[in-house]
Amino acid sequence: MRVAKITRLLLCLALLAFVIPAGAQRRANTEQKIDALLAKMTLAEKLGQLQQLDGHADGRYKDEQPQLVRSGLLGSTLNVRGARQTNELQRIAIEESRLKIPLLFGFDVIHGYRTIFPIPLGEAATWDPATVEKSAAIAAKEARAAGVHWTFAPMVDIARDPRWGRIAEGSGEDPFLGSVMARARVVGFQGNDFSAADKVVACAKHWVAYGAAEGGRDYNTTDLSERTLREVYFPPFKSALDAGVGTFMSAFNDLNAVPTSANSFTLTTVLRGEWKFDGLVVSDYESVKELINHGIAANEKEAAAAGLNAGVDMEMVSRLYNKYGADLLKEKKLSQATLDEAVRRILRVKFRLGIFEKPYADEARERESIFIPAHLLATREAAARSMVLLRNEGNVLPLSKNLKSVAVVGPLADSQKDVIGSWTGDGKPEDAITLLAGIKSKVSSNTIVSYAKGCDINDDTTSGFDEAVRIARESEVVIVAVGESAEMSGEAASRSSLDLPGRQLDLVKAIRATGKPVVVVLMNGRPLSINWIAENVPSILETWFGGTQAGNAIADVLFGDVNPGGKLPVTFPRSVGQVPLYYNHKNTGRPPDANNKYTSKYLDLPWTPLFPFGYGLSYTQFKFTNLQLSAQRIGPEGRLTVTVELENVGQRSGDEVVQLYIRDVSASVTRPVKELKGFQRITLRPGEKKRIEFTLGPEQLGFYDSAMKFIVEPGEFKIMVGSSSEDFIEAKLEIEKP
Ligand code: BGC
Repeated sequence: MRVAKITRLLLCLALLAFVIPAGAQRRANTEQKIDALLAKMTLAEKLGQLQQLDGHADGRYKDEQPQLVRSGLLGSTLNVRGARQTNELQRIAIEESRLKIPLLFGFDVIHGYRTIFPIPLGEAATWDPATVEKSAAIAAKEARAAGVHWTFAPMVDIARDPRWGRIAEGSGEDPFLGSVMARARVVGFQGNDFSAADKVVACAKHWVAYGAAEGGRDYNTTDLSERTLREVYFPPFKSALDAGVGTFMSAFNDLNAVPTSANSFTLTTVLRGEWKFDGLVVSDYESVKELINHGIAANEKEAAAAGLNAGVDMEMVSRLYNKYGADLLKEKKLSQATLDEAVRRILRVKFRLGIFEKPYADEARERESIFIPAHLLATREAAARSMVLLRNEGNVLPLSKNLKSVAVVGPLADSQKDVIGSWTGDGKPEDAITLLAGIKSKVSSNTIVSYAKGCDINDDTTSGFDEAVRIARESEVVIVAVGESAEMSGEAASRSSLDLPGRQLDLVKAIRATGKPVVVVLMNGRPLSINWIAENVPSILETWFGGTQAGNAIADVLFGDVNPGGKLPVTFPRSVGQVPLYYNHKNTGRPPDANNKYTSKYLDLPWTPLFPFGYGLSYTQFKFTNLQLSAQRIGPEGRLTVTVELENVGQRSGDEVVQLYIRDVSASVTRPVKELKGFQRITLRPGEKKRIEFTLGPEQLGFYDSAMKFIVEPGEFKIMVGSSSEDFIEAKLEIEKP
């Protein structure tokens, strides 16, 4: 046994001894090739590499692009896709341009290329990095087959404000969950080598703090302390970087008076200096030009200088680098070294992608790899895993497949375009399975399924209510699908209300008044303040926008083929007036106390959320017992193991997400009341019991002191383990003085 172990160890060491120099050698070779190219490039060709231009929305390139490519004046496109289109343009780069530098084809593959997965917020609700990694891997496989090299994903912006529509595109409010999901997506997209035929290079965006837009209004200003940046907004980016992410995108927002597309602290000091990132940074869409509107550049030339000098290598869509690069060099407002460095970073990514050797997509491969049954199955499973059971009084759910009749009601019950969400890549609404279709194929052939839309998502008409109520009365159970349309979240889709839009709540009330058992199925890209529903409707299932197979996946959950186990990756407020409301807040000097007016709360609303972060029910029940720490006291460098017993005490197999939170009770700077530091999604059969183990060490117990140094301070900690941020058992830990 021991001999086998030693042999294995020796083998590993030998492999490492071989792999490390091989990697270093490859890197050195690449740099040499870049040097050789740089030596040959004219100024115009160098500036050309810094330019990314948009194609048509349907994937075709634009008329001017072939000539630009031929002249070496275009380095990259976005939205041009499909093996044929990309090959046509690539052939010009390879066969007709002087230096034969391949084009880099970028595209927003956010939650799937053609097979659409749940929106990222939904995927985060799986609390299952394996599912998320798989979805990104499938997206990468389809995209690369269609000639796409580069996805502008993952979006890893922390979002504590649900008014911000782009909350749908990220992993919610928590830096730890966000970091786990960031890693999973990067690994899924890139694998360990993104030159592979089924991988793409990923892009961590939007660097940085874009999700903190004031008032939740997209593109708006942010002003945050360095501590908040380092503790809340940076970690998912750092996690993406540690997973090997090849590119970053600078953002639209102003950050502490320097817009993020001209911010040398974030782009150069932190990203290149501290974190040693050597890939490329692309601007967001015209964000270099927008520096003029921000008021830190008087004109286009100043904007170009500000972006390039701060560390934005490639300019998306606006063309200021190309227009003014030569003048800036002449006027010494840009150094040759800065320009060459930007070109180097772009070429480096192209070399890493292997597109100098293999510039073309394979059309046969494209046909075989896209929208295939295995991918549909994967998205159905991911969608089912993303669903969060918010309420199930009286166990209305799961439903029997042998119901005599079921009424399916609501503006989202049969909408193919909405169920796939925003940013749908090359996805097609006509491929999507709606809730109605999913239910029809789930129930027995004797079950009567009737459908009425009831009302639209967002207008005042109630003329469809009567029909909806009529079919509800005639049915054994009513399923009502309400929420938001797909375009109500995503980019430029901020809302000032978190209520259900239009007359949907009235529709739910009318259906509830029939006295029939009602299940509300929510579809939305952000938390909604569904207070009346939460109090009055016995069963509520949050399904986000579940993607191509959403309807089948929802039916899997409603009829009990899948036991829901997702958890909220974001707090659901009772009212937009509570925003920002997040679980890892500070305690204040006067924490809320119902019996004391002079504490931190509202006169007209409880201070608590409608549903807390980490919350979600199951068709079975779980019990947490026996929380144990391997040591009650450790030194600042020490580690400990936390174990807890989880038991399925209900009647069905099911999943629980075991969540570990810490609180540093007293420190030299104030600390959040809770911080997630570990989680595991566990499946147990009825009666089954399992010991779950977590390790805590300096990375989890430390924080930035007042000098921004990461330290672990002696003192008391609370360790909390449970099923949500509000439901846990706890133990004490002491960090001793060294
Ligand atoms: C968005 C980015 C996106 C880019 C390209 C911008 O408007 O902010 O997230 O990657 O467009 O489509």
